[in-house]
Amino acid sequence: MERSKIQCLYDACTRVFSDREPPTFQKIQWLRNFLDRIEAIDVGIDEFNSEGSPRSWIDPSSPNARKELICGLTVTEITYIHIYQSDDFSQIGVFCFPAGGKLPLHDHPGMTVLSKVLYGSVHVKSYDWVKARTASSRMVGLASTVTDGVIKAPREASVLFPKSGGNIHSFTALTPCAILDVLSPPYSDEFGRPSTYFSEIPIPSLPGYVILKEIDLPNDLVVTGAQYVGPQLDTGVDLS
Ligand SMILES: [Fe+2]
Repeated sequence: MERSKIQCLYDACTRVFSDREPPTFQKIQWLRNFLDRIEAIDVGIDEFNSEGSPRSWIDPSSPNARKELICGLTVTEITYIHIYQSDDFSQIGVFCFPAGGKLPLHDHPGMTVLSKVLYGSVHVKSYDWVKARTASSRMVGLASTVTDGVIKAPREASVLFPKSGGNIHSFTALTPCAILDVLSPPYSDEFGRPSTYFSEIPIPSLPGYVILKEIDLPNDLVVTGAQYVGPQLDTGVDLS
């Protein structure tokens, strides 16, 4: 049976992220090609159906199970579809946004992240630290702007690194949209990679730079979970 596109992405992730060494730029570029081939339907999302009555499909790898596609245009809250995670190397998932949905500024400590907008338009702001310190157990510092613009599908995947490429970013959906994310390593409180949120303070005398201050998880941030209904992944582990 032909491998699904998400299976090809997973297999490529295992090759790129299994080493203890950080991946080379060439390997990341190679991995990016796999993200760029993926469309919403490849991860179980119907990006065209605005009726709200989901279409169903049959996964060739589990032909007895009829699955209902997720209607991307009808989500009313930011919805995370978890596809895969392992403790040691990576995390794959999709954020679906309704128009106006906002994922506030957050960081990716020590991570490489590839993001592919599957459909729709999203405003992205991103920063890298110039200098940061921890004061009263909260991070604060000077950061430079990397991105402040709109990404509209179809567009090639973007990549951020631990110290460059816009490691701290926010998303504001201009239309219903979805973003496929590959993170390596995954978030982990245990291993010192928590998700931290920030507020930004402009510096009028220094265009292109802001002060970032750590904040609590915003009260108004609601992210609901949805089950992944795309092609089943063969991870070499019996998950049943
Ligand atoms: Fe992120």
